[in-house]
Amino acid sequence: MAKESVDYSKYFTAPNLKKARKRYREDVQVLDFEQIPEDMRNIGNGQSYLIKTYGCQMNEHDTETIAGILNQMGYTATEDENEADVILFNTCAIRENAEDKVFGELGRLKPLKLEKPDLILGVCGCMSQEEAVVNRILHKYPHVDLIFGTHNIHRVPYLLKEALFSKEMVVEVWSKEGDVVENMPKARSNKLKAWVNIMYGCDKFCTYCIVPYTRGKERSRLPHDVLGEVRELARLGYREVTLLGQNVNAYGKDFKDMDYRFAHLMDDIRKIDIPRVRFTTSHPRDFDDHLIDVLAKGGNLVEHIHLPVQSGNSRVLKRMARKYTRDEYLTLVDKIKKAMPHAVLTTDIIVGFPGETDEEFEDTLSLVREVEFDSAFTFIYSPREGTPSAKWEDNIPHEVKKERLHRLNELQDSISRRKNEQLRGQVVEVLVEGESKKNREVLSGRTRSNKLVNFPGPRDLVGQLVNVRITEPQTWTLKGELVPEERVEAL
Ligand code: 5AD
Ligand code: SF4
Repeated sequence: MAKESVDYSKYFTAPNLKKARKRYREDVQVLDFEQIPEDMRNIGNGQSYLIKTYGCQMNEHDTETIAGILNQMGYTATEDENEADVILFNTCAIRENAEDKVFGELGRLKPLKLEKPDLILGVCGCMSQEEAVVNRILHKYPHVDLIFGTHNIHRVPYLLKEALFSKEMVVEVWSKEGDVVENMPKARSNKLKAWVNIMYGCDKFCTYCIVPYTRGKERSRLPHDVLGEVRELARLGYREVTLLGQNVNAYGKDFKDMDYRFAHLMDDIRKIDIPRVRFTTSHPRDFDDHLIDVLAKGGNLVEHIHLPVQSGNSRVLKRMARKYTRDEYLTLVDKIKKAMPHAVLTTDIIVGFPGETDEEFEDTLSLVREVEFDSAFTFIYSPREGTPSAKWEDNIPHEVKKERLHRLNELQDSISRRKNEQLRGQVVEVLVEGESKKNREVLSGRTRSNKLVNFPGPRDLVGQLVNVRITEPQTWTLKGELVPEERVEAL
């Protein structure tokens, strides 16, 4: 293959983490997605694509946008990689193991590409924003045809066309985030539940986190665009929306000419006739009293709050630049529990952050015991090149990190189990999502608090809200039976 020796300059816009770190003053523009040019509209006729998605819900939703664009170019989706004419990896950079998986997959697909030279193999998402990744692909995976970044999704028609007609690897990654692009097509993967971006980017710069670099500065979508999208989803019969942002509580902070924040947005969404509204992810620092007041009104705003704590020790939190202390976090939790006694809290925790002592880790365990989260995502610290903490000595032996993770998970599992046990015999409201993966006689759905419930019932209940009595709580799921009762006793 000629790819190693060509001059990339014509096609190449390289990522640059230093540039991505800068926060520029100029205003963000809200642009409309440009209609797909005539000559690209049928490019994919008779061809199919497969997008493999890694990481968070933001990525899942980006995949829906890319799929929407590809559909408008005439492509159809396939699940079979041997049949696909375009295979894209929508990647995650948050931890090293997420990246390793993608490199493994790229290596695995090399024979397929050699066998089918017309296959377009592309990499997009957060990994594309890292120069080290792009360099590695350029040098070690020259069978890749296309790399584009998180700010370049609206450019997919052009980039794909270029990849189809050029022999060189096409790389377009803008490190300085672009504008907010509205009205991009979306191929939503679920008929009942939809994701809605409310903002992009993150300005928090926690010292371990790559996201502010890969996703750029905080940019909020305008309220009428968000509300319009939610209204449209309600009209189309969607039963649930999840509002997405890396830090949803910072929504509206970047508006210069209006005082309209996340609490205002939630208060307006509350009035839209859609049964359930969720949001993710929250930063404790920006979680204000106004928001708690609005969430406490309930209705379609569900009582589930994902509130990443990361550590239970104030010194570690300081080194992480989380901008709150253990006590401040606990005070916030208290306020939420007082205003919403049935609130279900979940969290993210990192163990083995540089310099974390046994004693500091014990504080995380004690915080978990005190708050009693219903569930937690727990991670071993993974240094990310370009972030401040990556320069600090990663001085906790891997065995110790694993041991801490294990102890934390054992504790959390026991709490999750105990919390679920409290639901035994109680009636909960379930949005029926489909048949259970394990048993087709059984339906599966979620409570307002996002717990998975399996129960026997007829298929035509899919899409409906039903009442289920919990008969067999387990650590991660609940088993139950349909009941005619009107009254819901728990969440
Ligand atoms: N190492 C381990 N976990 C991380 N997270 C973010 N960055 C890292 C990292 N470098 C975790 C945080 C965050 C979640 C999405 O991923 O807990 O909340
Ligand atoms: Fe990363 Fe912190 Fe922003 Fe979350 S708030 S995306 S952990 S920098």
